Amino acid sequence: MSQVSMTVNRQVVSGQIEGRTLLVQFLRDELGLTGTHIGCDTSQCGACLVHVNGDAVKACTMFAAEAAGAEVSTIEGQANADGSLNPIQQAFQDYHGLQCGFCTPGMVMSTTALLKHTPTPDVPAIRTYLEGNMCRCTGYHNIIKAVLAASGQDVSSQNAG
Ligand code: FES
Ligand code: FES
Repeated sequence: MSQVSMTVNRQVVSGQIEGRTLLVQFLRDELGLTGTHIGCDTSQCGACLVHVNGDAVKACTMFAAEAAGAEVSTIEGQANADGSLNPIQQAFQDYHGLQCGFCTPGMVMSTTALLKHTPTPDVPAIRTYLEGNMCRCTGYHNIIKAVLAASGQDVSSQNAG
């Protein structure tokens, strides 16, 4: 076992890890941040998506040791300071972009990364970017609408279906 430290959701944290401990395991098991989900742990589903130094990363593809000293953001750090939903989270709620919610943390974190570099993506761009995030419930239509709404676009003006 060894000690690792990083900044998670603007707080410096540290904990014990083995060399094989994945970042997603560290977040969930050591820090109790269970909003980052494990759907496959083989880089397929995107449920574990977090940001590491501002980049979208599937946390099952990275060892916790590799994130030493990094700035990590998880779904738990996305709400507004008063605890209310941020605009992306609110759009997912408003447009019913979730059913069981299992994929939702990854979808929200992925959308956040997308809108950072492409503030008003069209539907093909959204579909392409979210390729690595799987949802078994929604059929994706309402997720696309939520991303359009979160980026301030008229949802009815684009074919999200
Ligand atoms: Fe990481 Fe599925 S749990 S991609
Ligand atoms: Fe159930 Fe996406 S809402 S997996």
